[in-house]
Amino acid sequence: MKPVEIKKDIFWVGAVDWNSRDFHGYSLSPRGTTYNAFLVKDEKITLFDTVKAEFHDELLCSIAQACEGSPRLDYIVVNHLEPDHAGCLDRIVERFHPEKIFCSPMGEKALRSYYHHSQDWPLEIVPTGASIKIGKRTVQFIETRMLHWPDNMISYIPEDKIAFSSDAFGQNWASNERFVDEVDSHALDTALGDYYANIVLPYSPVVLKVLDQLAAMKLDIDMLCPDHGLIWRGHEAVAHALDTYREYALQKPHKKAVIVYDTMWHSTEKMARAICDGLSDEGISVRIMSVKHNHHSAIMREVFDASAVLVGSPTHNNGILPLVADVLTYMKGLRPQNKIGAAFGSFGWSGECVKILTEQLSGMGMEMVEPSVKVKNLPSHETYQACYELGKKVGQAINAKVAA
Ligand code: FEO
Repeated sequence: MKPVEIKKDIFWVGAVDWNSRDFHGYSLSPRGTTYNAFLVKDEKITLFDTVKAEFHDELLCSIAQACEGSPRLDYIVVNHLEPDHAGCLDRIVERFHPEKIFCSPMGEKALRSYYHHSQDWPLEIVPTGASIKIGKRTVQFIETRMLHWPDNMISYIPEDKIAFSSDAFGQNWASNERFVDEVDSHALDTALGDYYANIVLPYSPVVLKVLDQLAAMKLDIDMLCPDHGLIWRGHEAVAHALDTYREYALQKPHKKAVIVYDTMWHSTEKMARAICDGLSDEGISVRIMSVKHNHHSAIMREVFDASAVLVGSPTHNNGILPLVADVLTYMKGLRPQNKIGAAFGSFGWSGECVKILTEQLSGMGMEMVEPSVKVKNLPSHETYQACYELGKKVGQAINAKVAA
């Protein structure tokens, strides 16, 4: 890859993974992704993060080009230890023998457990408030624990008004463009939301804390460089990224509901459609998402900015269908807040589905709307009416929440 000079003597030396579709092992990345690393040429040539192991050679090539054929690394800053950013750290250390490697206090713990032979590495721990000189530039460090791993930190260079933010503010976006102002802004916001919903959502309280901390520090940032996707260039773009994250983290209610279901002989599916009619008549925007046809991360993207989640499953072997259980497990881990829940489903004989779904949704803190609806075998006219009424009731609850 060719390095890209993003500011005077500051280079993007990352890799574009056009074929990534399974991000971090559990989430979709339909547009691919990038692993962003950055090289600052000062008295101490400093690398910020590395790339996924399979892109090691590309990183080496980019470093060589940025260093005009005489590659050298004096310092390495490890903002994040997840293997898509630190997966070839050992080979980079062995190749360049840097004078110093900087990471957060929690980064040290992660580093030692990933690289068992790192005892001799020249590690220096940089907690929040620490700063280093790399020549005419200073690098300030801000830990962002649990945004989204314990070790994450942001590195900020005041002389260039540039911040390297690791996963925060990233998007899964493979392209030859490097900056957000080079692509369609609506598509970019969709990608930012996809990323937040599947990676950052459970840590929303931390996001708010970090945003407040950055505001209190009055950092002047005119370039924000996440470890994935496009770079936020200019004060306006940076403000958009920060403001959008604040809005995401607050999880305010919207007039939107998601109906998630699986079905065996289409009874539960028919119930989902009747519930949708009730919601629609209350002016709610609805997504009906079959778990057979939608990956759990696509479902979570819709749940993320919806106010209600209505889940349907037939009873199967005294439980719920396995794909519904998969989505609920994934949803629970992402800890969506401020949601209304409802349950529905069909059954042949024992009929535990609605009870199980209700327990799981209320266990996530959702305000359950009752009565839930369950039907033996095929829905009747009365069943459809009950489903419609459930949709109406959930719609009214959403409207009340939005108005509050
Ligand atoms: Fe993209 Fe948390 O690593």
